[in-house]
Amino acid sequence: MPKASKIKPLPRHVAIIMDGNGRWAQKRGLPRLEGHKQGGLNARRVVETFLEYRVPYLTLYAFSTENWNRPKEEVQGLFRLLEEKLDEGDEVAREKKIRVRHLGNLEGLPQKIQKRIREAVEQTKNNTGMTLCLAFNYGGRDEIVQAARRMVSDKLNVKKINETTFSKYLYSEDIPDPDLIIRTGGEMRLSNFLTWQSAYAEIYFTPVLWPDFDKKEIEKALATYSKRQRRFGHVEPG
Ligand code: FPP
Repeated sequence: MPKASKIKPLPRHVAIIMDGNGRWAQKRGLPRLEGHKQGGLNARRVVETFLEYRVPYLTLYAFSTENWNRPKEEVQGLFRLLEEKLDEGDEVAREKKIRVRHLGNLEGLPQKIQKRIREAVEQTKNNTGMTLCLAFNYGGRDEIVQAARRMVSDKLNVKKINETTFSKYLYSEDIPDPDLIIRTGGEMRLSNFLTWQSAYAEIYFTPVLWPDFDKKEIEKALATYSKRQRRFGHVEPG
């Protein structure tokens, strides 16, 4: 496997569905929350790897609008984990100049979490290194509905609504569309992730469970991406 520094082209924006924490724990006879804890540790390693490769935008899907249907203890455990990650992330963000962004609906979240997310976004907004988007309480359809509502409440002229203006009303606003979406854990679907933004993304599915998705696996995903031909609906020049 070539080192990622030798892989060309590298994606500008990688977005990841971090699936398989529960099964990782189950396989070891551990509670599901232990799987999420290990998943959180891996999220940190993965951020460091993409920093090393100088991928400028990374999005992590940490909590979907559908995850509310999980047992209360698991949901609370995921909230606690996010707080912990944001706390320990403060120093890394300062050191590595990471700009944190939030994709998702803040309003549905507990006040304490809302405050913590707002702080992380505010404190890092002028950082010029990697942009790390945390998709938390995020749903692709919800994002589109919220965008439509805001366009109506802004009384936007119908003639002004096109793909560019629509994109500006999404949570991702100024973030470029993902070039590569990775889903770990073996399922082959996007599960309401970046529904609008994924239109031309390359998708990479791997059976590897999220806590085991290491640097070697990242390099495999990047090498596969670099061999794909992206035509964006065009044909190859003959
Ligand atoms: C899916 O695994 C994973 C989640 C619902 C949560 C992902 C959260 C983390 C990795 C930790 C927090 C990280 C950050 C950056 C805040 P699953 O529970 O659906 O696994 P399963 O399909 O095996 O049951």
